[in-house]
Amino acid sequence: MNDLERLQMRFEAAVQAARDETALEEVRAAFLGRSGEINAIRRSIGRLAPADRPSAGKAINDTVERMETVLGERQTVLAALDVQRKLEERIDVTFPATQPQVGSIHPVRRVIEDACAYFERHGFAVVLGPEVEPAYYNFDALNIPEGHPAREALDSFWIDDTLLLRPHTSPMQIRTMQLHKPPIAIVAPGKCYRRDAVDARHLFQFHQIEGLLVAEGIHFGHLKGMLAGLCRALYGPYQRVRFRPSFFPFTEPSAEVDTTCPKCQGKTTACSMCGGAGWIELGGAGMVHPNVLREVGYDPEIVSGWAFGFGAERLALARYEVDDIRRFIDSDPDFLEQLA
Ligand code: DAH
Repeated sequence: MNDLERLQMRFEAAVQAARDETALEEVRAAFLGRSGEINAIRRSIGRLAPADRPSAGKAINDTVERMETVLGERQTVLAALDVQRKLEERIDVTFPATQPQVGSIHPVRRVIEDACAYFERHGFAVVLGPEVEPAYYNFDALNIPEGHPAREALDSFWIDDTLLLRPHTSPMQIRTMQLHKPPIAIVAPGKCYRRDAVDARHLFQFHQIEGLLVAEGIHFGHLKGMLAGLCRALYGPYQRVRFRPSFFPFTEPSAEVDTTCPKCQGKTTACSMCGGAGWIELGGAGMVHPNVLREVGYDPEIVSGWAFGFGAERLALARYEVDDIRRFIDSDPDFLEQLA
């Protein structure tokens, strides 16, 4: 291998090692520049015998030509790499941003808020009360005296002999009527507690929405109208409501209120939501018992009223077509996101 070939090899290695235009220019200057290695070799031609000079000159020119080709190729490659790098570094402002994790309103809370909003549109006030109540508000004032079997049905958590976690929101009827003169129009949403075994339909802590309207001339028709309107507000304009005769000590007459199963609309016998009944039970209602009105100092000869107490989880089950009430307290983000 002669000197020129060795030079060519060193040149090519240097060119490949050059990572950018500036480094490549330095290589070019070192080999092909005015005081570069090629010129040094050219100057040495003078020392050769005259007969050898033309072939030496040609060999040098050939080498220079090859070097320039190599240089040009590397330049093309570096330019392409440069473009690619710039493309990769560019910020695409149209690219969708990473979504931050945000929560959503719990379906039970949403149904409570929507129900309250419906009543507020009709002039009702929303009132909240204590979850630990004396037996007086939970039972006695609601026409459920000591020893009454209805007291047993509301399997309660007792704090001591007279205080308990409220098993229903009905105490708020008494508290409101004791504080205000009629007319009264309130809804009272909130947590309730019962010693119930947890299954697909029961929780030991759940929510109710209580409603109470007391004024002169109030009758059962007003109750039916408002509750049918509530179901249409929550489930859609064709929702129907059914009243079944029932018994509650604090209302007379009393009714159990059902709404058409939103899943099958009463059309199938194998519906997982209503078990083929076609109806979902929402809770109790009725005309406020005269004893309850008397207890708070109202005159049942002058005023009358209706009341209802619905399970909020029941309202939500029917609305979101959920077949197990425990899903609401599982805290499973996938489930909650679907209903958000
Ligand atoms: N408090 C009753 C319960 O939890 C439900 C209820 C029935 C409430 C009739 C009412 C009513 O206001 O009028 O089982």
